[in-house]
Amino acid sequence: MHQKACTILQLFRDKGGFVSGEYVSRTLGVSRTAVWKHISSLRDLGHVIEAIPSRGYKLISSPELLDSSEINVRLNTLRVGKQLNCLKQTTSTNSDAFRIAEEGAPEGAVVIADAQSGGKGRRGRVWSSPAGVNLYCSVVLRPSIMPHEAPQLTFLSAVAVARAVEQTTDLTPEIKWPNDVLIGGKKIAGLLNEMSAETDGINFIILGIGVNLNMTAGQFPDDLRYPATSLLLESGAPVCRTRFAAIMLNELDRLYADFLSHGFGPVREEWQKRCNANGRTVSVNDAGSEHKSGLFVGIDGDGALLLRSGDGRIERIVNGDVRVI
Ligand code: BTN
Repeated sequence: MHQKACTILQLFRDKGGFVSGEYVSRTLGVSRTAVWKHISSLRDLGHVIEAIPSRGYKLISSPELLDSSEINVRLNTLRVGKQLNCLKQTTSTNSDAFRIAEEGAPEGAVVIADAQSGGKGRRGRVWSSPAGVNLYCSVVLRPSIMPHEAPQLTFLSAVAVARAVEQTTDLTPEIKWPNDVLIGGKKIAGLLNEMSAETDGINFIILGIGVNLNMTAGQFPDDLRYPATSLLLESGAPVCRTRFAAIMLNELDRLYADFLSHGFGPVREEWQKRCNANGRTVSVNDAGSEHKSGLFVGIDGDGALLLRSGDGRIERIVNGDVRVI
């Protein structure tokens, strides 16, 4: 979308009512004819704009399309989203982000898609990615950390999603170790990191973030192995995907800046406060083999789960599914 058209949309949203053509043309420094042309291109994109000669223009509704310039105008980030690619359809945004990172994409580059035909989930599972309803997003980061520290970054994504849920709904999100965001015990977001690394450092890491925003009950796959939901199903109101994406990327940027200057500590602290297992007894299915249970103590510097067993020993768990007892 043309930058001026984008500014007109922003003006309409800021004013909230009728905005005169004269005011728009003065604010943008363009002719009334140019304003009219931008309005007409916005209408072509599906925005409904009322025009009354004596009063001006009023934005009635906008299509829920994901558009990079619409997200961009809402970003106030240092790194995240400085390069932003919005795709109508792709196989997997994580694969796209990995490819552009290999080709030299800058830190903070983001790939967002309206739909994914091969959305990747954890453990080789498929991430259901229907068009027009959810957020499928991948972010390229290039921190100077060792490969074993890379899992720390998933915790940033989880906290960013939780903060965005709080700012866009009345819901209270919880985080489940290591990387699910839940509402009322049901999953609304999944996170999948992929990285390119050498023994002495990482080249880049891709933070893959999938959030079920406006998915309806019939759109979930029948064979889902865990309870899942969407913000629409939980709150009864649709979430603006553009707004959610921008808020989440802004939060991720802040968390990442904090991570670069102060390390994992602050994120870890917030993550632990938001964790559904905080101070509770949990059972861990360790990669499908062994069941362990104990008191959830927190996570260590590498993001491993710390479990206190009956004899007081602290055990470190790096893999597995956690269930609060
Ligand atoms: C999980 O299984 O919980 C992780 C799901 C991660 C899904 C997201 S959607 C955006 C990004 N692209 C992918 O292919 N996967 C991640």
